[in-house]
Amino acid sequence: MKAARIALRSAAPLAGASAGSSTGRLPKEVEQFSRFSPSPLSIKQLLDFGSTNGCERTSFAFLRQELPVRFANILKEIDLLPDKLLGTPSVKLVKSWYIQSLQELIEFHQKSPDDQKVLSDFIDTLVRVRNRHHDVVPTMAQGVIEYKDTYKVDPVTNQNIQYFLDRFYMSRISTRMLMNQHTLLFDDKSGSGHPRHIGSIDPCCDVVEVVNDAYESAKLLCDQYYLTSPELKLTQVNGKAPGEPISIVYVPSHLFHMLFELFKNSMRATVEFQENSPTLSPVEVTVVLGKEDLAIKVSDRGGGVPVRKIERLFSYMYSTAPRPNVDDGRNTPLAGFGYGLPISRLYAKYFQGDLNLYSICGYGTDAIIYLKALSTESIEKLPVFNKSASKHYQATSEADDWCVPSKDPKNMAKQSAAS
Ligand SMILES: Nc1ncnc2c1ncn2[C@@H]1O[C@H](COP(=O)(O)OP(=O)(O)O)[C@@H](O)[C@H]1O
Ligand SMILES: [Mg+2]
Repeated sequence: MKAARIALRSAAPLAGASAGSSTGRLPKEVEQFSRFSPSPLSIKQLLDFGSTNGCERTSFAFLRQELPVRFANILKEIDLLPDKLLGTPSVKLVKSWYIQSLQELIEFHQKSPDDQKVLSDFIDTLVRVRNRHHDVVPTMAQGVIEYKDTYKVDPVTNQNIQYFLDRFYMSRISTRMLMNQHTLLFDDKSGSGHPRHIGSIDPCCDVVEVVNDAYESAKLLCDQYYLTSPELKLTQVNGKAPGEPISIVYVPSHLFHMLFELFKNSMRATVEFQENSPTLSPVEVTVVLGKEDLAIKVSDRGGGVPVRKIERLFSYMYSTAPRPNVDDGRNTPLAGFGYGLPISRLYAKYFQGDLNLYSICGYGTDAIIYLKALSTESIEKLPVFNKSASKHYQATSEADDWCVPSKDPKNMAKQSAAS
């Protein structure tokens, strides 16, 4: 482990811990820890922390280094955002949370892993950090909305913000995963959870069961909202061991999240597109386990989306639904603030999978989730701050190397007559 490499000079509260520091330079600890690259773990390594050989002290020593490294790497990117976005109260707040959490975690560099009190204080700190970061997604989204509403956002800035948010939310998925694993495995207070699970990982995740759970949850919302819902038609093909149930080593809550979002979208599209038909087409799901990939296809007859708009669906700046009130969790509609698809794709990519949409305008949509079938290939995909990353935050772009079609085509007849 690299954990012991950094010796810190002081355990006293560090300069710049207050929220006010978010507008100034980054504290020196951020500079110090951002020089390290994050260390991606495989699902197998995550499982090892919870096995009989793994121990709390090893996990502690890894996390007190790795979490500050991941926070520092992403703070460097936050700092490259356009000033006007960085200056919004929401983004300032998010930045102050990251700085404070990093500083609280690095205090553990001077403490001994052999002291039981230190280990239990560390768990308390992880719980505090996780609670502090609970509202990072809606708060950051709020910052983007404030920015978008106040200033006209050009396509290059739009692209830069998209690049940033994908990396920022991916980093958050990863740090939450690490913190959850440690608290679930080593905090006696957090309850044992499912007996088969190792932290949040299920070594034998029953994919079809998760599909059914996610369908039922989305159906509940859909029935509540539209008083009707499409049925589920499920097909499974085990290409590795024909006839056997399909299972993978995975985080069931991540898979549920993705499927729940896809079902909500498919149900909403189906009900709205088939408003005038007496029966609704079912949502068809195909689960296939191949040698390398586990694929889940969710197909609907919800009218589809034009090709021109497909890219926008993964954009954080776009949604067709009216904005929900962030504070109002009572009457959850089927659509949120347009983060369903982009965040689901990040969950898929987190362990080297993917999520794609294939749509036929006027007919329906196929959404496919790809996951790695082998746990040795499920390795965290993490952003790292370096020169190539910082290039993505430059405001200027080079001229397009494809012609822009003119709305008003040249009159060829006139031109040839003149020559
Ligand atoms: N299966 C689908 N059929 C038709 N349109 C879809 C489908 N899935 C997504 N969309 C479109 O993509 C948009 C973005 O989806 P999403 O990211 O889930 O955000 P939200 O559902 O909160 O709007 C939706 O508002 C909808 O217009
Ligand atoms: Mg949605």
